Amino acid sequence: MESTKHSSAEGTNEHQLNAGTTDAGTREPGTTDAGIQSITVIGGGTMGNGIVHVAAMSGFPVTLVETKQEYADRALLTIGKNLTRMVTKEKISQEQMDQTLGRIHTSLSPAEAVANTDLVIEAIPEQFELKKSLFDVIDQHAPEHTILASNTSSISITKLAACTRRPPKVIGMHFFNPVPVMKLVEVIRGLETDDAVTQAVTELAMQMGKVPVPANDSPGFVSNRVLMPMINEAIFTVYEGVATAEDVDQVMKLGMAHPMGPLRLADFIGLDVCLDILHVLYDGFRDPKYRPCPLLVKMVDAGKLGNKTGEGFYKYG
Ligand code: 3HC
Repeated sequence: MESTKHSSAEGTNEHQLNAGTTDAGTREPGTTDAGIQSITVIGGGTMGNGIVHVAAMSGFPVTLVETKQEYADRALLTIGKNLTRMVTKEKISQEQMDQTLGRIHTSLSPAEAVANTDLVIEAIPEQFELKKSLFDVIDQHAPEHTILASNTSSISITKLAACTRRPPKVIGMHFFNPVPVMKLVEVIRGLETDDAVTQAVTELAMQMGKVPVPANDSPGFVSNRVLMPMINEAIFTVYEGVATAEDVDQVMKLGMAHPMGPLRLADFIGLDVCLDILHVLYDGFRDPKYRPCPLLVKMVDAGKLGNKTGEGFYKYG
């Protein structure tokens, strides 16, 4: 098991969060005014490896935590491929790629990985009980000043915060797939999230080259509360025989200038993830307008989850 620690956060156990400026252009790469100098990302899946990629490229030492070394290696391979694509397209130099990879360490132990870090970003599967146990471990082992951020797409930040002894330091940092490309980070404030923590995470997102947008904790936040009903309605139009999946997507691409139609996007996100988020909206608001389309439920039951299983509304080679 490899467990590597970086040394750049020396003394950070004592430091406090400052309400920093938001002028990301004047700072050294890999630091923020609020004192974030090291980041631990837990989970190396699609979102986790993307977050590691952008954090390391912005100059931060990052520890990537996975449950097995082969998963950590797979995440590193994906990051390497995505960086190579950026070198080929002359967006970054080979030297920048090498430096980025050099800033990434891996660990199989969340407890060890968070022992000397300023910010933890959790990006594990969307199961509350799983996140709850992880937050408990992180809370016990991370220094007092450490911010605990979750990349959750739908679980309540307030509820996650309540699993820790530091609710003011718990926040949502919701990234979008593909993380190296999408500019948005939704910054979700839980009921007790401290203003200095919101400021620190906002500044960090800017340092990562992203555009942070604040939202208060509420089912689906802003992004998925708006996106998922559109995807669900697109599925209903197919279900009711109004148009084919291809035609629904064409309408939204050519008529509304969406880069992907809603059904292609649903496949890309994962139909199981879409269904889970719709359940969160339906349960959270008790409003029938979020009722998942029966066709979506049926496809998830059949294991047709989109790109990741090779078939959803489209077939993938
Ligand atoms: N890493 C790095 N770069 C990547 C990448 C990755 N994983 N994937 C794509 N790119 C780059 C490509 O290199 C290319 O760069 P270029 O402009 O310099 O040539 C650029 O992105 C565009 O990629 P492609 O040419 O391969 O393909 P497209 O033009 O079709 O774009 C797309 C692909 C960026 C995925 C585009 O279709 C898109 O923006 N789709 C919508 C994605 C979206 O809505 N994401 C949000 C999902 S919701 C979510 O994540 C939240 C959750 O809670 C559900």
